[in-house]
Amino acid sequence: MALLSPSLLSADFFELGNEIVDSVKCGADWLHIDVMDLHFVPQLTFGAKIVQDIKKHGDYFCDVHLMVTNPQDHIMPFVKAGADLINFHYEAAVHADRMITQIHENGKLAGVTINPTTSVDAIKWYLPLVDLVLVMSVNPGFSGQSCLDYTFEKIAELDELRKKNGYKYKIEIDGGISKSNVNKVLDLGCDVIVAGSGFFGQNEEGRKEFASIIHSK
Ligand code: DX5
Ligand code: ZN
Repeated sequence: MALLSPSLLSADFFELGNEIVDSVKCGADWLHIDVMDLHFVPQLTFGAKIVQDIKKHGDYFCDVHLMVTNPQDHIMPFVKAGADLINFHYEAAVHADRMITQIHENGKLAGVTINPTTSVDAIKWYLPLVDLVLVMSVNPGFSGQSCLDYTFEKIAELDELRKKNGYKYKIEIDGGISKSNVNKVLDLGCDVIVAGSGFFGQNEEGRKEFASIIHSK
């Protein structure tokens, strides 16, 4: 079964707790936490405290997407806050192997994220090491952007590589995914769907329908 990870960036922050409870009621499996530092991307969001506070209210799976320079400085704060999965960008990583080891030694899942124009070949050494590869289908920084369909080719490539080599990573896609294109990425081999506006922009019925399409794969 594929999983739905709604991006909290598109939630109403005034209502964050209710938005989370409602998302889970509508079928959310994970919560996608977009951490932006105004350097790696042109926006600033939140730090590890958001995870710490969410975890006080239930065992929500926190899927952290670090869009930051110096991602190594953010690992321990998110570990301590209780993050379940920590994704860092290939483009920002200097000592990637060390970060993956550190994440694993602290009992968390490690993911590597690639920008739209970064090729799968660039992360070939990561593939046996990581638990998840996050393919960006928009340029990171904002929700509500149009999906860049050329990135879908990388889903098929990653799916083929894991079958051929017995790798265990999940494939996650992030950016511009909605009811209109979710079947396409699921058919190509995606296991986790991130959706911001495509989820929070819907009413309860629309959110449930979106979740059920994802869960049917
Ligand atoms: C973009 C973020 C995404 C974004 C997704 O930088 O990483 O997670 O919030 O939002 P939508 O689904 O609206 O593109
Ligand atoms: Zn994201």
